[in-house]
Amino acid sequence: VLDAWTGPTPLLGVIGGSGLYRLDSIAPVAEVNISTPWGAPSSPITIAKTAAGNHVAFLARHGRDHAILPSNVPNLANIAALKHLGVRAILAFSAVGSLREEIAPKDFVIPSQIIDRTKGVRRASFFGFGDEENVVAHAGFGDPFCEILRPHVAQVVKQTLAEHNKDVSVHEGKTVVCMEGPQFSTRAESLMYRAWGGDIINMSVLPEAKLAREAEISYVLIATATDYDAWRPASAAVNVAEVMESLKANVEASNKVTTTLLDAIYPRVGEDGEAVKAIKDSMKWSIMTKSS
Ligand code: ADE
Repeated sequence: VLDAWTGPTPLLGVIGGSGLYRLDSIAPVAEVNISTPWGAPSSPITIAKTAAGNHVAFLARHGRDHAILPSNVPNLANIAALKHLGVRAILAFSAVGSLREEIAPKDFVIPSQIIDRTKGVRRASFFGFGDEENVVAHAGFGDPFCEILRPHVAQVVKQTLAEHNKDVSVHEGKTVVCMEGPQFSTRAESLMYRAWGGDIINMSVLPEAKLAREAEISYVLIATATDYDAWRPASAAVNVAEVMESLKANVEASNKVTTTLLDAIYPRVGEDGEAVKAIKDSMKWSIMTKSS
């Protein structure tokens, strides 16, 4: 395990969620332990090289042994470590519950909106604490995911799964509810989230997506459904056994997806890539504090 990475910059970062603790589809070239002013990330970061020779950085959100609860994920360190390596865009995977009949377990969802149910519980900003105690910044978050990469990701995921997993559907333009956990929702809450317009639910997209925005890193969520949460009157409410059952299939599909996705997206995250241009320097205009 290295203390620093001096090879080619990994422009793309992949954050693996439940079940996805490593990338099986691409060759690892190094393991790097990175320390940040916000502590250590969830796991050492794996630098891997794709078939086309592109370098990517992989991080297991819950640690490689899945020992980190969603509420305890060191999100600031994770995003800071990827930023330190030079990552410009993150493809984040997450297991989610489905709040809609048409989103079946094992389906993929590339959402476009988020409803935050973790507010006030998790530290969600680099600003207002420590050295940044008196820096007042308000990042734009109306479109929480990268609107440039999102359609491309969805298209490549669709194409890849159409070739390999015909029974899996890919849904776009959906709303993910991010809840606190660790307990799953009650049936009443699950019904309320549906009424609010939620389509899927997880415990991990926030504050990860907010911190990526503050770090000027483009961010797209690739959600894989594991269950129907608790809203369906005739079905048992979600439990871990049900989630685990879907996870295995989802991880195989996710590995197939990353094989094609990383090289397909890479050209868009170079210095002149449209996704990079869209977010670069965005924070410069988000700080209200007068510079002295
Ligand atoms: N992750 C997977 N399934 C979930 C659910 N039903 N609620 C919250 N997070 C989840």
